[in-house]
Amino acid sequence: MRHLIDSLDLSVAETQEVLDLADRIAADPAAYAHCADGKILATLFYEPSTRTRLSFETAMLNLGGRTLGFAGAEQCSATKGETVADTARVVSCYADIIAMRHPKEGAPLRASMYSRIPVINAGDGGHNHPTQTMIDLLTIRQRKGHLDHLKIGFCGDLKFGRTVHSLVNSLVRYPGNEFYFISPEELKVPDYLVEDTLKPAKAPYHEVTSLEDTLPELDVLYMTRVQKERFFNEEDYIRLKDIYILDQEKLNLAKADMPVLHPLPRVDEIAPEVDADPRAAYFQQVLNGKFIRMALILSLLDLTDPRRDRPHSRRKGNGHLQTIGAGVQDPVGSFITIGKKSEIWLQGSDQN
Ligand code: NCD
Repeated sequence: MRHLIDSLDLSVAETQEVLDLADRIAADPAAYAHCADGKILATLFYEPSTRTRLSFETAMLNLGGRTLGFAGAEQCSATKGETVADTARVVSCYADIIAMRHPKEGAPLRASMYSRIPVINAGDGGHNHPTQTMIDLLTIRQRKGHLDHLKIGFCGDLKFGRTVHSLVNSLVRYPGNEFYFISPEELKVPDYLVEDTLKPAKAPYHEVTSLEDTLPELDVLYMTRVQKERFFNEEDYIRLKDIYILDQEKLNLAKADMPVLHPLPRVDEIAPEVDADPRAAYFQQVLNGKFIRMALILSLLDLTDPRRDRPHSRRKGNGHLQTIGAGVQDPVGSFITIGKKSEIWLQGSDQN
């Protein structure tokens, strides 16, 4: 059983295959309109979402499949105390593939241990968001032509911003990338990202506080919102929420071809005037989201790519998505390779 829980579940070669497939779909969507006829996607969203849930649903509909699911934990049996493990078992009887978003780190991984169908992590707490990473990589590749030898700035809430964690994990695998982490002290990247990812990869990185001073250096800027829902204290959120605002005046300090990415939703961190600047790439990311999720559904369900002869992930060479579920045998989660918070949660009781 193949799942996508972490952006590292795809090798660099597999990542490129998914990006290439997304490009082929974008060039000729009609050719893919019946690839998933008869298949059902379940969207299990225990946390709010606009883009991720709707783009998964439109991806499946555009492939000829159908969708079911819930949007909000209050709409499902989690309110009655059902565990993620049981929900995964149940939904395996109804659907062919699951996209799950959950406020607890490690929940989609736990679901994958019990599911009989592929599980895609659509965001788990402050931890990971691998499908957004694929979107970000595709957008950077479209704008810059390559994913290596880039100076990438991440700005805002780098502590709780799960899209940042997944994207850094992926980008360190490309040679020559250099990272600038622009945040206040309170919202710095988690220690585990520095210790487990950046240092072992010997990736150069700088932790700084000034957006203005850093902007002229950058090839790519990745803005994020301050993650209100993950703060324990509203006063801290109010103090930090507007700490970085990218407006046209600041953007004038940047290179003429520096794309500005943002996973959205934006709050105040990018002024609306920036939308008209050709460097604004965040609505391009939204469109890419549909094609990436179509590509991932095709890949994980081993469906045939009509622009190729064989099913996407069964092609010769490096075309196999990793079989990570097979490595996770112990239901109490003693074999866990992701961040510390997940380990803690997974080793605890089987709660929702
Ligand atoms: C992001 C998320 O959910 O982590 N949104 C998204 O999926 N595009 C970013 C965010 O909520 O700030």
